[in-house]
Amino acid sequence: MVQEVFLSIAYERSMFGGAVPVRYDERLMARYLITGVAGFIGSALAREVLAQGDQVRSLDNFSTGKRENISEIFSQIDFREGDLLGSGLVHDACRGVDYILHEAAIASVPRSVKDPLASHRANLDATVDLLIAARDAKVKRVVYAASSSAYGDTPTLPKHEDMTPNPISPYAVAKLASEYYMTSFYRCYGLETVCLRYFNIFGPRQDPDSPYSGVLAKFITQMLRGEQPTIFGDGTQSRDFTYVDNAVQANLLACKAPASEVAGRVFNIGVGQRVDLNETFRLLQKIIGYNGEVKYAPERAGDVKHSLAELTRAKRHLGYTPKIYFEEGLRRTVEWYRSVDSRPDNLGTQFSNPRAPNVDA
Ligand SMILES: NC(=O)c1ccc[n+]([C@@H]2O[C@H](COP(=O)([O-])OP(=O)(O)OC[C@H]3O[C@@H](n4cnc5c(N)ncnc54)[C@H](O)[C@@H]3O)[C@@H](O)[C@H]2O)c1
Repeated sequence: MVQEVFLSIAYERSMFGGAVPVRYDERLMARYLITGVAGFIGSALAREVLAQGDQVRSLDNFSTGKRENISEIFSQIDFREGDLLGSGLVHDACRGVDYILHEAAIASVPRSVKDPLASHRANLDATVDLLIAARDAKVKRVVYAASSSAYGDTPTLPKHEDMTPNPISPYAVAKLASEYYMTSFYRCYGLETVCLRYFNIFGPRQDPDSPYSGVLAKFITQMLRGEQPTIFGDGTQSRDFTYVDNAVQANLLACKAPASEVAGRVFNIGVGQRVDLNETFRLLQKIIGYNGEVKYAPERAGDVKHSLAELTRAKRHLGYTPKIYFEEGLRRTVEWYRSVDSRPDNLGTQFSNPRAPNVDA
């Protein structure tokens, strides 16, 4: 089974008083399995897949994900709590699925430097397990959340997909090795796979409070709280910061693009513009109205200096064009963190409360 026809049947009163079935919706729906759905990007993907009228099955062990990220869509998704690796859940989760969006990972460079084995298991072993299950279930296509960290500290800018990778951190090595497995499963078994190398994704629901969080989520929430943010290094390091809606768009395109154009291939997903951290801080000062200054701390091991995506391949073969640029993305993100902080039920505490409400309760 690749696609199923779902019939929604309503009952209408007949003129004779009896109930007769009436079809009010008949369409082809696709079923997506989203791994890491309780995370920042996975939850954004789930909302968009539901919005386009398709079905979401999902798997997450809440190692870094949060229940509140999926609380408003929880009743609409087939959610399975558990680990991708070694739980046996993954084979069942792949059954009857058309597309897999594989987001689950321990998505952190510094955390992988501290604990390379945990990074290896979550970021590589779990990917291989998933690929075997997807192959056996005859899933149509697997789209993988790869990472620009694969390029490492090569000085060439922008980074293009044909460059020789040069990963620095254990995280980057595991993400790159997962890409190779994706391509290998296409070549050896014909399982269609597409790797999207994300360049620093940011936006609503990114966790700001872990010591391993992405820089923008941290800066924004600290500055909104009136706390002083820290830049590791001199602040001249630059990134192609990419608003999350662009990554969502790329995933959905990657599912539908012709196999001859995309299967077994790797695509950069960014905006194609880079901004340094000093400039980012000044922009946030303006958007937030923050009067304080930033403090500087020594550089961190494994961090790359500059990053910028070359997007020609994604534009040509996926039909991808970034829709939301950096400053607009920052404004939307600040707006979201502000709205959460000022909610009467004070869901803003979710960012500092590890025992946030369980949606099952
Ligand atoms: N955020 C970025 O800038 C960025 C950049 C490049 C690549 N990526 C990749 O995108 C993906 C999503 O990143 P994110 O920022 O949303 O991270 P996130 O930490 O918010 O989400 C990851 C999710 O995966 C879940 N998870 C982790 N290991 C699991 C396992 N073994 N079994 C089941 N669930 C598991 C976590 O609980 C979490 O919900 C990751 O694969 C990451 O490597 C992210």
